[in-house]
Amino acid sequence: MKKFLFHPLVITTIVVTFIILLGNLKYKDRYLSDKELREVALSGSFKPIPKTYKELLKVVDNPENRLSREKIALGKKLFFENLLSKDKSLNCASCHILEEGGDDNLPTAIGFHGRKNPFHLNSPTVLNSALAVAEFWDGRAKDVEQQAGGPVQAPFEMNMQPKDVEDRLNASQSYKDEFKKVFGSSKITFENVKKAIGAYERTLLTRGAFDEFLEGNNSAISQKAKRGMSLFLTRGCKGCHSGMSAGGQSMQHFPLRSFIADDIGLVFNPKLSIKENPYPIPDLGGFRGKNDMLLFRVPILRNISKTAPYFHNGSVDKLEEAVRIMSKYQLGREFSKDEISDVVAFLKTLDGKIVEY
Ligand code: HEC
Ligand code: HEC
Repeated sequence: MKKFLFHPLVITTIVVTFIILLGNLKYKDRYLSDKELREVALSGSFKPIPKTYKELLKVVDNPENRLSREKIALGKKLFFENLLSKDKSLNCASCHILEEGGDDNLPTAIGFHGRKNPFHLNSPTVLNSALAVAEFWDGRAKDVEQQAGGPVQAPFEMNMQPKDVEDRLNASQSYKDEFKKVFGSSKITFENVKKAIGAYERTLLTRGAFDEFLEGNNSAISQKAKRGMSLFLTRGCKGCHSGMSAGGQSMQHFPLRSFIADDIGLVFNPKLSIKENPYPIPDLGGFRGKNDMLLFRVPILRNISKTAPYFHNGSVDKLEEAVRIMSKYQLGREFSKDEISDVVAFLKTLDGKIVEY
């Protein structure tokens, strides 16, 4: 027996098996330890949301629109200001309810006089959106300052002209005084309205269990969430949903992989042939992303459990289903029910509270 155990062939076999096992261990398909989870997450550009105003400035200050306490306070007032909508019935928070994940929980946005978004677009969250490299589903605005001009003027949102906004606000002495303090001129311009709103949005960052885990608290998230985080990091979700905001850092195709309509149980618009709907989801609104290339600004996954329904046209109600679709059509490897449930547990750790800076 002793002789057999020390036979060079047996030793070699044991060593090789051990190496393969080790290799497998290092490989993708296993759950990472707490330390590895943190390492991989941080190397994948995930970062905790800043806790203090000083740290915040390092992350979100805009050289073309320097933040100040007064500017942020003015922007907050304007974010909730009904004067910015034609019939004075809507403000930014009508569609971006801060306590409810920063969106409206509707499949598509409803604006001026009950008008629906013409492309059936879903309101994305404003929370953490200042961390994105571009705004809107097709990334057409470069930052939150530029973005803020859009909804005010859209006929199906607030339906105002820049001049109307300026006239209305210039009629208010208290606004004139505040703009004077912040921008040095009491003549209110649409440009400065956008800047003030943008400054406020830069402070709408949320912190939650995920941030505490990244900062070293192993018990901040459950074992189930850790399994989900492992899958998220090792199977490829993090390739697109990355950065401090867990998304918003690039433009990507959806779907990435072609699909066969028959094997998905979703209801298609009967008026469209399969060819006409390029998505594995119902094609409400016919939106095709940037330059009609099925290119989308990757959505931000912070607070995702509170921002149903999902996808650009709000056609999917359940987060589990959104994750399944992603695993199948973005990764080419459909997750099992248990894996989906773990990933959803992880995604819930991205829920957070707005930090009071
Ligand atoms: C009628 C509902 C509605 C109102 C009012 C509204 N929004 Fe939006 N918001 C939307 C929709 C829908 C989109 C996505 C539109 C698109 O991609 O073309 C959006 C997109 C955004 C985004 C981009 C987020 C991202 O991650 O891409 C920001 C930021 C934003 N809105 C801020 C604001 C501000 C500031 C106001 C007030 C000036 C405002 N919204 C008013 C519905 C609304
Ligand atoms: C190749 C890039 C890419 C990969 C990989 C990817 N996603 Fe996505 N994800 C996107 C894009 C783009 C969208 C927006 C699609 C749309 O709305 O039409 C999206 C949408 C989502 C949404 C819905 C967001 C919302 O606000 O409606 C969730 C949830 C999501 N992804 C989670 C995941 C998970 C979990 C994984 C891994 C299984 C993953 N994604 C992998 C690019 C990617």
